[in-house]
Amino acid sequence: MTADFHLYLDSADLGELRACLPHPVVHGVTTNPTLLRRAGVSRRELPALLHECLALGARQVQAQVQAADAQGMLDDAHRLLADFGPGQLVVKIPATREGLRAGAQLGAAGHPVTYTAVYAPEQAHFAATLGAAYAAPYLGRLEDSGIDGLALVAHMQSLVVRTGAPTRLLVASVRSREAYLALLALGVGAVTIPPRLLPELLDHPATLEAERGFLADAQALA
Ligand code: G3P
Repeated sequence: MTADFHLYLDSADLGELRACLPHPVVHGVTTNPTLLRRAGVSRRELPALLHECLALGARQVQAQVQAADAQGMLDDAHRLLADFGPGQLVVKIPATREGLRAGAQLGAAGHPVTYTAVYAPEQAHFAATLGAAYAAPYLGRLEDSGIDGLALVAHMQSLVVRTGAPTRLLVASVRSREAYLALLALGVGAVTIPPRLLPELLDHPATLEAERGFLADAQALA
């Protein structure tokens, strides 16, 4: 894993996160209200979940605002940030008109921001021009809607790189190893995957088979 790529786990389910963390290839954990609801985590329990992820070795955690207007988003963001040290929490904000307003203020105050639900190249470009840490397009959902998701992500990537901003695309809704590899080939700076995909990336059957052979031979050495 190079410093230029961040692999995240996209989950609010502590059971599945505990099965993966800590591991040095995992940079952090991303959550959103849908994942929280699916995992049965309440609004009140969110900070504790995020702290548990950090205790498990996540270097950064990401949590989303739950308001639609810029002031409400900023209030949510400051409530979340109050519980964390500098750089530990990245605030996720949908890439709406109001979201860009709120994110710009947070960014100007030095807080890392992820603009999420990014569906169009211009949204990724705005994220970069505002100095976002991340812009998150949803590959699987783009493809569900009949769009060539990889081509669109490639377009976003070229626009973001051209701004010279340190913004990384953080591609979410990644549902297969093949999609993950295709994103690496595009040079995106970050990907978030469901934890169920991690074993497919870490535990290659041929490597395990080779290791079994080596271990058996090591045992048999004089
Ligand atoms: O972070 C977005 C992700 O949770 C959506 O994934 O597979 O439900 O589209 P999916």
